[in-house]
Amino acid sequence: MTYQIAIDGPSSSGKSTVAQIIAKRLGITYIDTGAMYRAVTVAVLEENVNIENNEEIEKILSNIKIQFKWVENKQHIYLNDKDVSEKIRSTKVTSNVSAVSALKAVRELLVELQREIASTNSVAMDGRDIGTVVLPNAEYKFFFTADARVRAKRRFEENKAAGRLDQTLEELTELIIKRDKYDSNREISPLKQAEDAIVIDSTNMTVDEMVENVLGYIKH
Ligand code: DC
Repeated sequence: MTYQIAIDGPSSSGKSTVAQIIAKRLGITYIDTGAMYRAVTVAVLEENVNIENNEEIEKILSNIKIQFKWVENKQHIYLNDKDVSEKIRSTKVTSNVSAVSALKAVRELLVELQREIASTNSVAMDGRDIGTVVLPNAEYKFFFTADARVRAKRRFEENKAAGRLDQTLEELTELIIKRDKYDSNREISPLKQAEDAIVIDSTNMTVDEMVENVLGYIKH
């Protein structure tokens, strides 16, 4: 029998890191749904489409193929057979992903894809609406939170390690607060804690502590 672990929360709350590690430990599939919204954003930016033009957006969506593949122990994401794992983390994509992910047609397509994957695989899936909309019957639901400044610091260190030095810590803090607000207030599937989710405040936790905390609840 397959089972589902839903992990939601704002950006840099630790959810992706933890979901990835626990998926590996449990031998189940890891799905980073944020990466999927980012890949669609890459497609929209490449086609130079006005996101208010529904027809153009629909056209892009009908020609899109998104796949995950493991390369040297790391999950990579492919957009129409092209590896976009680096590109999806660029400042340009990060600045545009909230608006693209608020579009109804985009959400419908990706939610369907996410459900399809979860219907045949045990998954640890992280995002904003997994426990509330995508997998409301998930066996396990977690909601990660953390102080915005701590999250900005994490993103800053992550960027530094990847050689992305175009934003200061202050700029990142501002961007994170703005994105939280946008993601929490959009009309369709806003970032919201599922009523039955276990809340994990990761502000003062190490990654190991977050992982052990989550695994402590998993009885599979
Ligand atoms: O987790 P992330 O920062 O990579 O997510 C990128 C954006 O995608 C984020 O601003 C909100 C959106 N998103 C979403 O709307 N629903 C999801 N399930 C996952 C991400």
